[in-house]
Amino acid sequence: MKITIHAQNKIEPLNDLYGIFFEDLNHAADGGLYGELVQNRSFEFAPIDHPTYHPLMAWEKIEIDGEVRLVIETGNPVSHKNPHYLGMDVVYPGKNVGILNCGYNSGIPFKQDAQYLFSCYAKREQCFDDPIHVSFRGKEGEIYTNEPIYVTSKWEKYELEITSPITDYDGRLALTIEGRGKVYLDLVSLFPKDTFKGRRNGMRRDIAEKLAALKPKFMRFPGGCLVHDGALDPDARDSMYRWKNTIGPLEDRPARRSNWGYNQTLGLGYYEYFLFCEDINAKPLPVLPGGWDPHHKRAVELDQLQPWIDDALDLIEFANGDLSTTWGKIRADLGHREPFGLEYLGIGNEEVGAEFFERYRVLHEAIKKAYPNIQLINSSGPFPEGEEYDRGWASARENNSEFVDEHYYCSPEWFLANHHRYDHFNADDPKVFLGEYASWGNTFYNALTEASYMIGLEKNAHAVKLACYAPMLCNVDYVNWSPNLVWFNNHEVYGTANYYVQQLFMQYQGTHILECRDTDFPDAVVKSKDPTGLFGDIILKGNESKVQYKDIQFINEDTQKISRYDAVTLEIGEELPLEIVDCVNYTLRFKAKEIEGYKGFHIFFAKEDVSNCLLWEIGGWQNQDAIVVEKVSGRGSCLTQSLFSVQRDQWYEMELQVKGRTIVTKIDNREFPSTECKPVVIEPLYYSASYDNIKNEIYVKIVNVMDKVQDVTLEFINTLIDDAECLLLAGYDLEDTNSLENPENIVPSIQKVLKPEHEQNKIQVTVEKHSINVYKFTL
Ligand code: AHR
Repeated sequence: MKITIHAQNKIEPLNDLYGIFFEDLNHAADGGLYGELVQNRSFEFAPIDHPTYHPLMAWEKIEIDGEVRLVIETGNPVSHKNPHYLGMDVVYPGKNVGILNCGYNSGIPFKQDAQYLFSCYAKREQCFDDPIHVSFRGKEGEIYTNEPIYVTSKWEKYELEITSPITDYDGRLALTIEGRGKVYLDLVSLFPKDTFKGRRNGMRRDIAEKLAALKPKFMRFPGGCLVHDGALDPDARDSMYRWKNTIGPLEDRPARRSNWGYNQTLGLGYYEYFLFCEDINAKPLPVLPGGWDPHHKRAVELDQLQPWIDDALDLIEFANGDLSTTWGKIRADLGHREPFGLEYLGIGNEEVGAEFFERYRVLHEAIKKAYPNIQLINSSGPFPEGEEYDRGWASARENNSEFVDEHYYCSPEWFLANHHRYDHFNADDPKVFLGEYASWGNTFYNALTEASYMIGLEKNAHAVKLACYAPMLCNVDYVNWSPNLVWFNNHEVYGTANYYVQQLFMQYQGTHILECRDTDFPDAVVKSKDPTGLFGDIILKGNESKVQYKDIQFINEDTQKISRYDAVTLEIGEELPLEIVDCVNYTLRFKAKEIEGYKGFHIFFAKEDVSNCLLWEIGGWQNQDAIVVEKVSGRGSCLTQSLFSVQRDQWYEMELQVKGRTIVTKIDNREFPSTECKPVVIEPLYYSASYDNIKNEIYVKIVNVMDKVQDVTLEFINTLIDDAECLLLAGYDLEDTNSLENPENIVPSIQKVLKPEHEQNKIQVTVEKHSINVYKFTL
């Protein structure tokens, strides 16, 4: 087997291909990357964030030798943007009366000899000569430190630098009151002094270092669904993510309900984000809401879009404007005179539907008029195919958007089956920003299939210009979504196998993709049971709904044999098995009606078992889609999606046609885009070669998904080579993972590959089974 690398034939620049995705889900910011250690520092937690939340969440009373009454007040706040604060009314004074904060996870992590920056706003009504004690404590009440502050009758900010004498990851921050009367507290904060790059209000160092070590070319922010899920009014407690709420003094940043079921302080806001991008040498790629909340179907009137346009223009000015501009000056006043160099801007995250695309056009035109060089990113929804996906692309073409944001979470088998997805994309079209993707899982097998897919991204650099795995961060005790790239608790962090694949591909991206070809490669191996057709049972059900089916016909299109079935009413959970399909071309026709529930119908076909089947889901999640999903080993991949809502008590005429591996669905004569359930194919090797014109290095990446070792000759045309270094991920079981307990179970190793002395442009490499290899040649 040979791979020939045409070292002088640079096919396409790789520019900013690999970056990272950031969204504050899984407590990625608060309780994660954002260095703040106090949870609910402003007493703003409320049931709007989550039904169990309340303003004293994460706080506990201390009444060891006295008594205190805690009241949440709003009469005279530090900032009207965060109206709640704590009143502590001392009923019986003592030396150990007050309140403590429990932090995130098991507590506040104290490290011996580390310094911490404490601050709070406070005032009291009497006893001004009596101190309030700020102490670090253990969870059993052990007192590690004790620092007094003397508080006046007016809101003032108090700051302390405290060194921890011990290491305790279950720590507490306590504020206890000497004297009588009422003490008020707000914005109680504790940061490690040692944040990433030592920044105030900065990032947790270990997590930030993990991200910096990836060497991403860009960073998407702030999401994700949290961009668009929310009220239209920027001052609403559950507003969409409006960037102007996220800059300036912390006390003036209004706490926000996040759709991920918790409270966002917005302490890690746009300014911190731009700084962080600069610190890790990644270009910022912000995503703004487009005035349409698809989750709650809230749309800004088209003639009311000006504030949304202003938000976009002002953000660009905030990032790039000079000091003579309003927002450039605001940036400088915050501490950054130089522009941040914004080039990319997303409008909308996964939004689709007419409402979004109408608004996108207006925003696009206004932004381009003011800033023709900003590259705009349109949306194609959360699925890799379908009507709305096509509409996203059509909108991008009509508007001349530079990019289309594609999102998909699929099985590892989907990634193998769709390796050539971008081969036929047109270089003259808008470019792909693969803004969210992952295979379902954090095993080595997931990482391996993602690596094979990324080879396809590189080879199609004419079409794919930006790509980021998602989601990125997850606190192990607050999981909204899994898998994720990096996991952490309050004091430890680890990268998954997927992380190390991303890291290898980012670090050895190169500046240009090179022409390379294979010779003497065996044929690809087809893994699907039958590459020509979809066999298996058919089952009709409701989707947590009571449904009726009638006029059911199954037509074997090869023999024209028709089977008919009696009408049924199916209670929730009941199902009607129809047929064991033994032909590859068939049509299923039926009428269906939902009589209870709201999630419509489930039609299983090609069903081997519950974990391996195809599913036509009509209604579903928020009763807004008709989708065809392929499940492999329980992991779903959407094959096509269209907007469709089921109306209760209405009969629908439905048709499912299967022609080999092509699937066509119809409802009431509306034909949805057909899709193909592609067979899983494993190629002998996946490979690419790139050149880095800054380092003068060539990288040859080879991914072996096969279960066998393969020997390959790498031959270079028009260049001489020396020994290579191989960055290698191999030797693992497919189910292996990293974990907090074993964070470096899967990490790349470095091996030397020696070139035979008599050769000038050839080297033999042995590619381990199930391996990811990056061969680095320094020229
Ligand atoms: O990455 C997790 C979520 O998946 C994002 O918020 C959303 O954009 C997508 O559906």
